[in-house]
Amino acid sequence: MSNQDKINKLIELRAEAKLGGGIKRIESQHAKGKFTARERIEMLLDEGSFEEFDMFVTHRCTNFGLEKTKFMGDGVVTGHGTIDGRVVYVFSQDFTVFGGSLSETFAQKICKVMDMAMKVGAPVIGINDSGGARIQEGVTSLAGYAEIFERNILASGVIPQISAIFGPCAGGAVYSPALTDFIMMTEENSYMFVTGPKVVKTVTGEDITTEDLGGGKVHASKSGVSHFLVENEEEGVLMIRKLLSYLPQNNLEEAPITECDDPIDRLEDSLNEIIPDNPNQPYDVKDVIHSLADYGEFLEVHRNYAKNIVVGFAKFDGQPVGIVANQPNYLAGVLDIEASRKAARFVRFLDCFNIPIITLVDVPGFLPGSGQEYGGIITHGAKLMFAYGEATVPKITITLRKSYGGAHDVMSCKQLRGDLNYAWPSAEIAVMGAAGAVEVLEGRKLREIEDPNERAEFIAKHEEEYKEKFANPYQAASYGYIDDVIEPRNTRIRIIRGLQSLATKKLVNPPKKHSNIPL
Ligand code: HXC
Repeated sequence: MSNQDKINKLIELRAEAKLGGGIKRIESQHAKGKFTARERIEMLLDEGSFEEFDMFVTHRCTNFGLEKTKFMGDGVVTGHGTIDGRVVYVFSQDFTVFGGSLSETFAQKICKVMDMAMKVGAPVIGINDSGGARIQEGVTSLAGYAEIFERNILASGVIPQISAIFGPCAGGAVYSPALTDFIMMTEENSYMFVTGPKVVKTVTGEDITTEDLGGGKVHASKSGVSHFLVENEEEGVLMIRKLLSYLPQNNLEEAPITECDDPIDRLEDSLNEIIPDNPNQPYDVKDVIHSLADYGEFLEVHRNYAKNIVVGFAKFDGQPVGIVANQPNYLAGVLDIEASRKAARFVRFLDCFNIPIITLVDVPGFLPGSGQEYGGIITHGAKLMFAYGEATVPKITITLRKSYGGAHDVMSCKQLRGDLNYAWPSAEIAVMGAAGAVEVLEGRKLREIEDPNERAEFIAKHEEEYKEKFANPYQAASYGYIDDVIEPRNTRIRIIRGLQSLATKKLVNPPKKHSNIPL
């Protein structure tokens, strides 16, 4: 065989490998409205940057005559490339090969890119589209999953890990994405569940569709398993690219600071009027975020889940930050189990990756009631407090309006090592709202007043007194718990100056194996 023949053979083999499970199955993939594993990688990465590994790997299984059917690459495309010029490692499951099911060698390919990503300190992006464990392989497939899980765990907090679910992801296979930092699902063709509808029917008798059990919409709104819901795969890959623009490559680096033409001293007069005179009237805290951030841009995480708290990424003078904001527009911005879990996870992510936290507070307290207590609001609320208290990144807190009770402490107060705590003049920082306080403090006298008018007058007088004393930021400011009371329209420049002053912040927690966050 001449050298040229050898080169031609390589070209042929490559062409064959690129067809995965063959043209018919590629057509069937397209007919479902899905892209192939390679098309997805091409859409995701900078053009022409993909370097593939292990294209010639095949499975080693001989059960059920499987040795007669082999596909080069064995159902997963792996390698590295760049996004906006920065290195990322990727694996993309190929449904056209045995339904993207995971074999021993398939798992080894994924482990190889994860190990490489850890060595060089670069993010890993996994695109999932798989029928789960390759049934013919039995326990070696389960072992392969566990190899991946362990790597997910060890990489957690070291390199960003992002999962896109562009097809089925079922059984124990869901746990690899679940161990990563962010999960993205599409509105259709994307599902995750531990047991499928047929098993559910057999075990519990419940009749439920695949979509209703574990579709993208369900996980984005009901379970919170998914952080991003996108209309289709094209939107999904763009979202991943955008998300990475806010993140450092690894936990030893800072997130990239970009050029910013949005004036740092831009005054936002609208913010002086955004808080309604009536303290019970809602407003949209996302309007505040858009007014403050560079170019009004905000990448919201968990948009459809626990809407009473808003979390996501923005930039200030080009510096990426994470924003956590109570949302008065939804359940009055109360903290409940879901909101606490959502925000705690996000705060911990930010702290892992050196991203400063901006907290916008307008919280009436924790949601009362047996539903919350039985569900363990104590433990879940403690998660958020733990996450804030443990975080060593720069923390800037702006109290916009209400900051009551335990929720005041939780939302990045001074004593949880908030670095800069500012308040708007509309802030109300107190143990509880005026109505509740008067009920408790004046209960004995109230019980003695029988005339309803007299009673109402008594309540109004005492509420007014209470508000005068506590429903403002000045008591907190007099103790130095609030560093300054600021005019709302100046907030952008105050945040930017704060971030600049905190850029060299150094704070180290006591040495320990790891903390014991109340899980
Ligand atoms: C081997 C599989 C496979 C699997 C699919 N295929 N899943 N091969 N092992 N797990 C093959 C099919 O035989 C078929 O091969 C091709 O992939 C496409 O599958 P279809 O069924 O034709 O596709 P579709 O109708 O779209 O259905 C997709 C599906 C279904 C819903 C994913 O294939 C399915 O239910 N698969 C089994 C899912 C499952 O129960 N997996 C085990 C979960 S438990 P041909 O040659 O016809 O193209 C698990 C444990 C993990 O994963 C534990 C980790 C700790």
